[in-house]
Amino acid sequence: MNVIFFLVMRVICFNKCFMLIWMYLICAWSNDEDPNAPFFYKGYYHLFYQYNPFSAVWGLIRWGHAVSRDLINWEHLPGAALYPDEWYDINGAWSGSATKMQEGGAPVILYTGSTNVFVQVTNMAVPKDPSDPLLREWKKVPENPIMMPEGIINSSSFRDPTTAWLGSDDIWRVLVGNKRDKQKRGMALLYKSKDFKKWVKAKHPLHSAKHFGMWECPDFYPVSLHGNDDLDASVEGPFLKHVLKNSLDDSKVDYYTVGKYFPKLERYVPDNGSVEGPNGLRYDYGKFYASKTFYDDNKGRRILWGWINESDSVADDITKGWASVQGIPRIVRLDSSSRSSLIQWPVSEVEALRGTSVTKHNVVLKRGSVMKIDGLNSGAAQVDVEVEFKLDNKVEDHVYETVEDMDVFTNAQKLCSRGKNVEGTAQGFGLMVLASDDLRERSVVSFRFFKQKSDDRIRKVALCVDQSRSSLDTDMDKTSYGGFVNLSPHQKSLSLRVLVDHSIIESFAEGGKTCITSRSYPMLAVNENAHLFVFNNGDSNVIIRRLTAWHMKEARQQYSSIL
Ligand code: FRU
Repeated sequence: MNVIFFLVMRVICFNKCFMLIWMYLICAWSNDEDPNAPFFYKGYYHLFYQYNPFSAVWGLIRWGHAVSRDLINWEHLPGAALYPDEWYDINGAWSGSATKMQEGGAPVILYTGSTNVFVQVTNMAVPKDPSDPLLREWKKVPENPIMMPEGIINSSSFRDPTTAWLGSDDIWRVLVGNKRDKQKRGMALLYKSKDFKKWVKAKHPLHSAKHFGMWECPDFYPVSLHGNDDLDASVEGPFLKHVLKNSLDDSKVDYYTVGKYFPKLERYVPDNGSVEGPNGLRYDYGKFYASKTFYDDNKGRRILWGWINESDSVADDITKGWASVQGIPRIVRLDSSSRSSLIQWPVSEVEALRGTSVTKHNVVLKRGSVMKIDGLNSGAAQVDVEVEFKLDNKVEDHVYETVEDMDVFTNAQKLCSRGKNVEGTAQGFGLMVLASDDLRERSVVSFRFFKQKSDDRIRKVALCVDQSRSSLDTDMDKTSYGGFVNLSPHQKSLSLRVLVDHSIIESFAEGGKTCITSRSYPMLAVNENAHLFVFNNGDSNVIIRRLTAWHMKEARQQYSSIL
């Protein structure tokens, strides 16, 4: 795809197809799904992705490949890095990961092949020319497939190898997602190898959990207890915990647990009280699936990518010619205060796109007030907003909405869906983004406080994204999202960052403790007609201690110009 074709597509696709996205990887006439095998090599970040060049829906999948110097401006390399062209992947080159076997060395890829008889296997590919920093060409090794679903293993649910890690016994280990139909048990099968080519399955899965079905795209990595030193997959020691993330095929939810890895026992044990399944902890409580982290040895940090699906219909995707984007890469680390959950934050490189800004200090938002943030001359369709709200009282003394139904109370998404249909109002306090001047269209990102009717000591604060009025187009998915935010009862302020890019809204509460990604295709709130508002529909005043909104420039997204 050349740049001219890309520019033509931008014109054709106007309105529902905002291709002016500042840093997201999207592919015209393509379906762009799971992020695969990210790594840094010889000055470039590499990201592969599940890619169907022929249609905006899933099909015969290959690996698209893009490279970047800064995680922000991307070049799509031509063709594909891995084609489905061997008996062991002829029905699809599906998800996988990269591993650097030596520090600074060239990565190797383990990926899923769907064979000529639709059995899922693990294959390996290595760079053809490790001296090429762009690693344009990959060769599949003659030993493929290197892992097969043997014995009682379900051969249509055997996929998505992780990055491998090296034990202190010099043996490589890798996880493969799997399920056992009995009990709908999701499993992370453990394989071991001395030479990376001959792999033997360990007796037990590293971990498994019943009821929630197939574990796609498992990810397993250490995190530092101190919350700052990011760690390579192979690091072991007393100063760390491990994270196991699984993508639940049945519910399309990525959830994770934090726990302890016992290398000698070949087991991972989630911390006491961990919840398995879709009600567990999530990187993101919105649209965010098949995610993958990698250790960025360039800057010593762990970075997370997630696939953000569309909110329009499949028919719309086919008309506009593409579907799905990758989120802004996020740094992920253990929350050092709780040591039981993660925090995420957009990589600092995205700040290079910040342009002109508007700042407010100490503005009182009275009950029932809505205030437009003026001064973003070219509109607020591409904006980065950071805001700190100060409460009149401590969190524990704030006014809470009363909830009668106990079942709803345990589910932030259901709580956030309460009251969303009230004409002309938005609940809680926060921001309205991608909003039309008359607020007929708006996506509402807010904090809401809930208490149980039967026992008002039971209280929860949620980050909510109410999409019910996000577009006048009736065909859009307008699901509302919610995630609980852990606060100290004594704190008096709450922070929120929201990154908006035409149809993509990524929200980070309290420094990234709770994150929600959503999509919206407004009809009125487009380009310079997209506005940003702050509002307070709670029962007490709120002060904006500080708000800065930056207009964001576009990132470069090109096709093969460096070649
Ligand atoms: C996740 C997934 C993976 C699989 C790939 C196929 O979205 O289903 O399990 O490898 O997509 O495209």
